[in-house]
Amino acid sequence: MFNNVNISLSGILLAALALTACEHTPPDHRDPVTLPVYSAGDADNGAIIYEEACGQCHQLTPGSNKKGPQLMNIYGAPAAELTDYDYGAALSNSGWVWDAKTLDPYIADAQKALPESKMLADPMPDASERADVIAYLSTLRMNAPAVDSDGNPVVDTKSTHMNNEAVEISEGAENKPAASF
Ligand code: HEC
Repeated sequence: MFNNVNISLSGILLAALALTACEHTPPDHRDPVTLPVYSAGDADNGAIIYEEACGQCHQLTPGSNKKGPQLMNIYGAPAAELTDYDYGAALSNSGWVWDAKTLDPYIADAQKALPESKMLADPMPDASERADVIAYLSTLRMNAPAVDSDGNPVVDTKSTHMNNEAVEISEGAENKPAASF
C-alpha cells in the first residue's frame, strides 16, 4: 500500500518536472571566441576587479543570467545575442560587436555610452582598470556546450565555471530514489 502511494507521488513529481522543463527558453550560448586575447591590460588583475564591479550582476555559465546576461565568450560577440535574456531595446538595436573599442566606453559609463542602457553599473573612470577588465573578459572562452534533444546544454561536471546554482534535472534523475515521505 505504501509502495503504491510512493509510485503515484513520484509520478506526479516527474509530471511537474516535465511541465516546468517545457515552460522556459532553453539556455543559449555564444559562439567560441576567435579574437586573440587582449594584451593591453592585466587579465589577473581584471579578474579581481570583475568580481567586485561586475560579479553581482553577471555570471559566466550559459543559462545563468542574473540581473545582467551571462558573459561567457563575450569578447568578439555581437551585442544582445542571447535569446534567453531580455535585453533593452537600445542594446538590441546597437549593432555593436564587443571588442576593446566598444567595451571601453560601455564599462566606463554604460548610461553615457548607450542612453537607455539597462545596465545600471557604477562608472569606472580609471582607464587602466578598464583595460584590465577587458583583458580578463577576452580570456573567458568556452567551446559550445553539448546540447540534449531539447537544446539544453548538458552539464559538464569538469567545467571550471561550475557554481552552486540550481542545475537542470538531466538524464539519470529518474534512477535516484524518490524522496521518502
Ligand atoms: C547592476 C548590475 C550590473 C553591473 C554591476 C554590471 N552589469 Fe553589465 N549588464 C547589466 C545589465 C542589466 C545588462 C543588459 C543591458 C541591456 O539590455 O541594455 C548588462 C549587459 C552587459 C554587457 C552586454 C552583454 C551582451 O550580451 O551583449 C556587457 C559586455 C556587460 N554588461 C559587461 C559588464 C562589465 C564588464 C561589468 C563590470 C565592469 C558590468 N557589466 C557590470 C547589469 C550589470
